[in-house]
Amino acid sequence: MTARNATDWEKAPAMPAGHFVSGRVYTDDAVFADEKARIFGKIWHLACHESEVPNAYDFRAVDYAGIPLIVVRGRDGMVRTFINVCSHRGAKIVNEPSGNAKRFTCFYHLWSYDDRGACIDIPRAEGYAQSGLRKEDAGLRAVRTEIHLGLVFITLDDNAAPLADFLDGALTAFDDVLGRGDLEVFHYHSAVLDANWKAWQETNLDIYHEFMHVLLRRTQLTAGRMDERAVTLYRNAHALSSGLKAKYENYAGMQARPDALTLPGIAPDDFFYVNLFPNASLLARGTVIRIDTVTPIDARRCLVEWRGLAPRGEPGAARLLRMRHHNQYWGPFGRNVPEDAFAVEACEKGFAGGGAAFQIIAREENMSAQDDGMLRAWYAEWARRMDRLPGDPVRREGEGS
Ligand code: FES
Ligand SMILES: [Fe+2]
Repeated sequence: MTARNATDWEKAPAMPAGHFVSGRVYTDDAVFADEKARIFGKIWHLACHESEVPNAYDFRAVDYAGIPLIVVRGRDGMVRTFINVCSHRGAKIVNEPSGNAKRFTCFYHLWSYDDRGACIDIPRAEGYAQSGLRKEDAGLRAVRTEIHLGLVFITLDDNAAPLADFLDGALTAFDDVLGRGDLEVFHYHSAVLDANWKAWQETNLDIYHEFMHVLLRRTQLTAGRMDERAVTLYRNAHALSSGLKAKYENYAGMQARPDALTLPGIAPDDFFYVNLFPNASLLARGTVIRIDTVTPIDARRCLVEWRGLAPRGEPGAARLLRMRHHNQYWGPFGRNVPEDAFAVEACEKGFAGGGAAFQIIAREENMSAQDDGMLRAWYAEWARRMDRLPGDPVRREGEGS
């Protein structure tokens, strides 16, 4: 038989549960609503880097799964986050991506808020005397914020366990390079992809697709041994992928990355990365660090944001070379990240209209080489939080078919 008929095609793949995922995880509205509540309403999310708000009263506005947020460094140096929505009639307050402001004044009726989220001014407030509204009760909604290694994490869940519990040490590989506190965001770009948000994170969990990138075929597959690669899993399905190497000079026009630019704690030819459940990745290559975050806009569209980190205030020539290193792979016209975007949107084209029934995540190579272990661990955690089976997500666990 050369192709499958409809019955065979619709049947779950004949392999253990957890080794395949139904297309319904990308398209079902009830699944998506649960993801917003059970995942994005609960986890610690990497919102930005603290260098994006270096001084008192600096702010950075970010979107988080449909909710506008504003990260603010207060007059006391503390970084806090608020929902960027006016307590009066729900207008989004700050529309610039970043800036410095001692007060945030809503454009609609000019209610104002300070750097700690307190409502400090209501024009003609006497009109509320009879209804009893007081500005003391009209502050912004505070969003729990913790900083680790300069990374600003937020959670919408006031009862979430502390960030350190959630991370479970998964960022240890970055302790040295990020712990010195001397890096800054030098690169930011974002894109709205026509795809479910999970499909982007899957590109970072799926090492097998390195064949797709001509750049990785030349620089990565030629540089290190498959059996020197290792995946380390942490609680909550965070994962470290290490032992990868790169020979940059194997790609025409590239040069080996010089020791002088190499970041501390990283060898010049090292490539390692950590995926944080559910939607962030930190990737390190000799001279550059990339941070990805993906958040849903709706079930069929996602926002991916890419940041690059470099030593703060480094000389211009060094910065230019580092920008080149970053952009060769990871810039909007690089030979790596844009190709991943094509792959993600290609899968959406398959799943969106029901053209694909399942995806297979069944490679097993002792958590080395091109094992799909990170993908399986990710979906096991997704299942735990969602109380749904990735292979049959429309049915809740324990329910009959
Ligand atoms: S909605 Fe913001 S002041 Fe009215
Ligand atoms: Fe990729």
